[in-house]
Amino acid sequence: MKKIGIIGIGKMGEALVRGIHSAQADYSLEATTRTAEAAKEAHKRLGVKCHTDNLKLAQDCDVLILCVKPHQVEAVLTAIAGQLTSRHLILSICASITTSQISTWSGGKCAVIRVMPNTPALINEGMTVLAAGPRVESRHLNLAEQIFGTVGKTARVEESLMDGVTGLSGCGPAYVYMIIEAFSEAGVKVGLPRKTATLLAAQTLLGASRMVLERGEHPAALKDEVTTPAGCTIDGLMALEEGALRATLIRAVVAATERSQKLRGN
Ligand SMILES: NC(=O)c1ccc[n+]([C@@H]2O[C@H](COP(=O)([O-])OP(=O)(O)OC[C@H]3O[C@@H](n4cnc5c(N)ncnc54)[C@H](OP(=O)(O)O)[C@@H]3O)[C@@H](O)[C@H]2O)c1
Repeated sequence: MKKIGIIGIGKMGEALVRGIHSAQADYSLEATTRTAEAAKEAHKRLGVKCHTDNLKLAQDCDVLILCVKPHQVEAVLTAIAGQLTSRHLILSICASITTSQISTWSGGKCAVIRVMPNTPALINEGMTVLAAGPRVESRHLNLAEQIFGTVGKTARVEESLMDGVTGLSGCGPAYVYMIIEAFSEAGVKVGLPRKTATLLAAQTLLGASRMVLERGEHPAALKDEVTTPAGCTIDGLMALEEGALRATLIRAVVAATERSQKLRGN
């Protein structure tokens, strides 16, 4: 059984643990937090061995998933660098921290993969993007895909694209919740009960998303299928164009991407 250590079991670490547990994958999990109190709480909530000793975690586990806040990464890694060897694989989910920074702070001996998951990992519908860093071989990437594959879909990109990934799929769930909330308000505006409106909104997004993924057609072709001449949909689409929906969504992703770049000081 592969032993996986999670350094910093906060919101995202917890989503991963819940996802991995519900996928009944054959991994043994151990985790750390900064404070003993948080470790006790996480153990109670998740049933995972949890403590505050990162050196022990590095001794116990070959695979370390780094889930602390970006500004905490350097201190955490330099404190355990002496314990890290070529047997270790570090999977960092920390936004905007590069594999080269991680490699430097961790002593330069282990393989490093940068990973950007998103919170639907909690229900095994995550989108995780991986970028290979120093000393990574295909066996490392395969293992990382297996681990994150338990909580959703995975894709690989060059590391230079990871800020864009952060801006799109990393932050994306928040944009989509806002869209669902707006659709729900719209439903209420046209007379639907709130609960029904939210169901219609969320299931419509889910169904349309699955059409894109399963049929593999261009979204514009699927949109054309729904849009009959002089029908209702074209009027709705026109309102969306007047409100610059597409430009607004593009700006949202670009703004989040630029923020990810700035966090690193680029
Ligand atoms: N949230 C998202 O949607 C998302 C998506 C993709 C990537 N990420 C990335 O995921 C990372 C974590 O985000 P989050 O929202 O999960 O943050 P969070 O909830 O604040 O969790 C951070 C965790 O790190 C622990 N920690 C801090 N210092 C530590 C140390 N020295 N040793 C061990 N554990 C330590 C904290 O423990 P205490 O509670 O004891 O302080 C806490 O459990 C970030 O780097 C973020 O960029 C987040």
